[in-house]
Amino acid sequence: MQHAERVLVLDYGSQYNLLITRRIRECGVYSELVDPARSWEEISRERPTAVVLSGGPNSVYDQGAPGLPTGLMESGLPVLGICYGMQLMARELGGHVVPGTVREYGPARFVVEQDSPLFAGLSREERCWMSHGDRVDRLPEGFVPLASSEHALAAIGHPERRWYGLQFHPEVSHTPHGKAILKNFLQLAGCRFEWDAGHFVHDTVEEIRQKTEGQHVACALSGGVDSSVAAALVHQAIGERLHCLFVDNGLLRQGEAEQVMEILGGRGLNIRMIPAQDRFLRALDGVSDPEAKRKRIGEAFIRVFEEELDHRPDIHFLVQGTLYPDVVESGGARSATIKTHHNVGGLPERMRLKLLEPLRELFKDEVRLVGRELGLPDRVLMRQPFPGPGLAVRCPGVVRAERLEALKGADRVVREEIEKAGAHEGLWQYFAVLLPVQSVGVMGDQRTYSEVVSVRAVTSLDAMTADVARLDWDLLARISTRIVNEVRGVNRVLYDITPKPPGTIEWE
Ligand code: XMP
Repeated sequence: MQHAERVLVLDYGSQYNLLITRRIRECGVYSELVDPARSWEEISRERPTAVVLSGGPNSVYDQGAPGLPTGLMESGLPVLGICYGMQLMARELGGHVVPGTVREYGPARFVVEQDSPLFAGLSREERCWMSHGDRVDRLPEGFVPLASSEHALAAIGHPERRWYGLQFHPEVSHTPHGKAILKNFLQLAGCRFEWDAGHFVHDTVEEIRQKTEGQHVACALSGGVDSSVAAALVHQAIGERLHCLFVDNGLLRQGEAEQVMEILGGRGLNIRMIPAQDRFLRALDGVSDPEAKRKRIGEAFIRVFEEELDHRPDIHFLVQGTLYPDVVESGGARSATIKTHHNVGGLPERMRLKLLEPLRELFKDEVRLVGRELGLPDRVLMRQPFPGPGLAVRCPGVVRAERLEALKGADRVVREEIEKAGAHEGLWQYFAVLLPVQSVGVMGDQRTYSEVVSVRAVTSLDAMTADVARLDWDLLARISTRIVNEVRGVNRVLYDITPKPPGTIEWE
């Protein structure tokens, strides 16, 4: 994306790298990660205002440890090296790095030794977060020590060159004034702090116009925050040339399809709703294995889109609401596949469509800011995350129309009661799951033998881990009474008290 002012973060592999770009954007300067293996010629084409060298798992002495792009030193750009980035900077400029006798991991303190604009507004002694084995032992020429921790140089700088190094991580919340230090660096680098959601919309709209060159674009709307914001953004850029498809697969929550049509259709987006409930039910017929369900649903989506797009050879692009964390998660084979996250992934290759992913550099809360900038209501922006395969993964066992009906009814009760009590603030997700288990009950002196609903409500920051919401007992009792009274085929309600891990948020 062509943002007027940008800071590039060279990605040396630290687990905190996402946070660096994020903090810089919070300061009001556009930032993104780049691969340091790219040539400087290529990187400098993005015309960065400054460069940050991130931390990473390597030692500068490891065989094949990534180095500085040739050309960065001569570029005259301000540079901030963090952890591995500082060691790399020190070594490549002629200093010396040694394995630390004491490794520093976790909370630490540093003392400012020399006045520097990098530490403007900070105290002489500050808390920080360290995670390093090696340390800088001898400074390169022109560098001065700026701060030290108990066991290492904590900060170094070459003020004329505007090259600085921090041994600790300013991007994590455990370094309480880390963001102030980053902001000081950006100030030193001459940044103007003009980046915000409005600029993002302006720049991205321009870029989409240029990229699509008058051609037509399709978008698969799911009703969720990401695809809605992506569609609204592309619509702002190309208007009528955007063709949204909204597949009603019957696996959405009660009232959801109508709401999407009302809100997005009401904004003038060109949306075609495709009723495909029966088709998805047929695809799921007799299937109870969770991964098989996801696969069948994914295939059915692709087939529906193919049929729709077959008549539109003039469509050359597909919009997807991919976010930064999705990009990173799918970037490597680092973790085992717990669940295949479903989207219309196979479609672009099969249809030879080019992808348009205008949100791929943003985090969820930044997407919400962009959505607000575009005038989307909170009803869309503050929605709970909802899995692509929809209610099918909240319906363990086989998915049949009457089971889906029961699940939708129970889910509506859970949402209504939690929202009425104001208990949804701070929850990540709250929903119902219909279990393929029958239990005996008694209603109006009659024996019942019906299925069981499990209520799930969790708190989470990023869905990687989650804790059970401590819902009020009276609220849970109201939910239970209403579900059993109002939903046919259910006579018992449980509250799921399993955190993630060991559970996952969804049941399948
Ligand atoms: P789990 O169940 O793995 O879910 O703890 C983590 C988060 O991801 C959502 N989820 C999905 N989202 N496609 C999606 O777009 C999927 O297939 C999918 N499966 C789970 C889930 O709702 C939770 O927020």
